Parts: sequence; structure tokens; C-alpha cells
Amino acid sequence: MKIALLPGDGIGPEIVAEAVKVLKALALPLEMQEAAVGGAAYAACGHPLPEATLRLAQEADAVLFGAVGDPRYDQLERHLRPEQAILGLRKALGLFANLRPAMCHAPLTHASSLKPELVAGLDILIIRELTGDIYFGQPRGRRSAPDGPFAGSEEAFDTMRYSRPEIERIAHVAFQAAQKRQGRVTSVDKANVLETSQLWRDVVCDVHRQYPGVQLDHMYVDNAAMQLARAPRQFDVIVTGNLFGDILSDEAAMLTGSIGMLPSASLNDKKQGLYEPSHGSAPDIAGQGIANPLATILSAAMMLRFSLNQPEAAARIEAAVQSVLAQGLRTPDIASEGTRKVGTREMGDAVAAALA
Ligand code: NAI
Ligand code: MG
Repeated sequence: MKIALLPGDGIGPEIVAEAVKVLKALALPLEMQEAAVGGAAYAACGHPLPEATLRLAQEADAVLFGAVGDPRYDQLERHLRPEQAILGLRKALGLFANLRPAMCHAPLTHASSLKPELVAGLDILIIRELTGDIYFGQPRGRRSAPDGPFAGSEEAFDTMRYSRPEIERIAHVAFQAAQKRQGRVTSVDKANVLETSQLWRDVVCDVHRQYPGVQLDHMYVDNAAMQLARAPRQFDVIVTGNLFGDILSDEAAMLTGSIGMLPSASLNDKKQGLYEPSHGSAPDIAGQGIANPLATILSAAMMLRFSLNQPEAAARIEAAVQSVLAQGLRTPDIASEGTRKVGTREMGDAVAAALA
């Protein structure tokens, strides 16, 4: 089982080191190899996704990724910015399905931005399409406005675009995930306004005919944002496009207490996947040894389950995380009165120890 380790920038190396510690404690035949990505790779060789890094990722069964993004490189041309590395990897590996569970771990219900009674037992899976939508649609650019009330002024535009096969494959992922959960899918769009959303809704309905055991409903994205904050437990699986999914998954993250708790998986149509915490490189706390490594450790568990066919090992890691939280250990982002504040390393050590 070959794993490519891409720690990246900011807190990336700190949190990936803890996930590696936990993986090693499993004593499985895992072959892990590390490469530079993002700003770290740009600093070393002038490109955020060097050829050697890409090859390592392509040849691996799974990629464990930290985060990319470094304020020192914010002014670079877009194709050289650290964030391009993750987009390049998604594209090269054909990763089209982003799975983001938002679970409220029992000892952390008070850490949510919502009242505990609204989030206790929360278990949502947000499935975000990753390869289409306004992030990649052409044409895009800047120009002088050709007409309208602001003709002659500078304007910028992007193109929202989805094709039927792209929507079909993500819909299948959602219905199949729902079959293993509570059997409910909510498809989120803006079909009252957008042409892409009308196609999205048509295709999701067509695919749904193959899954009669799954209940499907549709929701406009503005209402979905409101419902997530009002009564989040009404959802089981949410499936949506790239832009809406980006926003809703961050909103759902807050319901669970900290973005530092949330893992994610990005899968292609083989079983290859890229696993990373839902958060970014957190430059504001990088190097301080206080980042929460649990999102990355839980991402490693998803990796064992979805790409490496080791569901028991995945469950062991998840149980170890639960037990460490139950013991009261907290990084500062999830700390509260009466708990024991620990740093990144101590948290990783505790999870590794709890595996035994
Ligand atoms: P962020 O997720 O890095 O940070 C948002 C806030 O959450 C910060 O206050 C940070 O300290 C906190 N936070 C994040 N992860 C944490 C953890 N594990 N433990 C404790 N606190 C944590 O998002 P932000 O600030 O918008 O972006 C920072 C950089 O990360 C940017 O360059 C951005 O482009 C990049 N980014 C990269 C992503 C990726 O690699 N997939 C995803 C999102 C952002
Ligand atoms: Mg985001």
C-alpha cells in the first residue's frame, strides 16, 4: 500500500507528521514517501506542483495531503500560487467527488456555534462536485465592458458550466453513499435562476430512478444555507456543485465546533483518493505547535477505508480519536473549561497511544 505524503505549507507539515505517527502505530505494511507541494515546492524549485510530486501522487494508492497556501506568495501569477497545486492534483488524478463528513463528536457538542440540542448526534455527509462549475468554466477573464450601463469600465467574468456526465457520476456517488447511511439525499442547486442548476436537477432526478430505495429532495442553495444553521440534523447526504459545495461545507464545518476536526476525501472512479483536512494552511498559527491534527488523522482513517481497503484500521483510528476526546484532551481551537489543553504533538501522541 503506497501512500504519497504531501505536507505542503503553514501547519501542513505539523499535522501530517501526527497522522504519519498514528499510521505507523497501526503496524500495517504501508509504504510512505514524501514530496514537496504548494509554496514549499515553489520555494524549492519554482513550481507549486513539480513533475516529481505529481508522479509520486499518480503512482500511489492514496495521497495524504496537508494544506497549501502561503501569504508570501499571494502576489504571484495565478498559475504559480500554492493553491494551484491542489487544483492540479485534482485534475491529474481525475478526482471529481469530494466527501466531507460533518459530525458532531459527543464531547464537543458545546464547541459548536449552535445550541448543543441542535447539533447533538449531527452526522451529515456533504458531497461536492470538484471538476466543473464556475471554477473551471471558460471563457473567463477581464475586459472593458462592451455594453450596458457600465460600458467601457473594467469588468471581470467567469462561466458556470456543467455537463450531463459530470452530474451523473457525482449523483451516483451520492445515492450509493446514502444507501450505506440513512438513505436520504438532498440535492442543492439554484434552479430558480441558473441554467446549470436546471440541468443539474434534471440529471439528478434521472439518476435517482436507479435508486428507488433512496429518498431524494431538492433545495435551493440559499435555503440550504439557512436550514444548515436552523436545523442541521434534517440532512443525511447533501450533493451539490463545486461552488455551492465549497461554501456549504465550510458552513457545516462550523456546526461541528472546529474546522480542525473535519476530514475530507476526494475520489476518482478507481479507488484512488486524496485525503486532506477541510481547513487550509492556517498561517496565523503555523509553527506554534497548537494546530489541531485530528482532521488530518481522521482523513488518514478515511484513506484506510476508501482507498486501502482497511476498514478495521480506519475504525480503530476513529475510536482512538473518540477516546482521546473523552479523556478531555483539547487543542486550543476546541478547548473549553475543565478540559486539558494540549499541543499538536501531544494530541498525536495520545491518539497513537490510544490505538494500543
Ligand atoms: P484556514 O482554514 O487555513 O484557516 C481559517 C481559520 O481556522 C484560521 O483562524 C486558522 O487558524 C483556523 N484553523 C484552520 N485549521 C486549523 C487547525 N487544524 N487547528 C486549529 N485552527 C485551525 O483558512 P484561510 O485562513 O482562509 O486560508 C489560509 C490559507 O490556506 C490560504 O492561503 C488559503 O488559500 C489556503 N487554503 C488551502 C486549502 C487546501 O490546501 N486545500 C483549503 C483552504 C484554504
Ligand atoms: Mg473552502
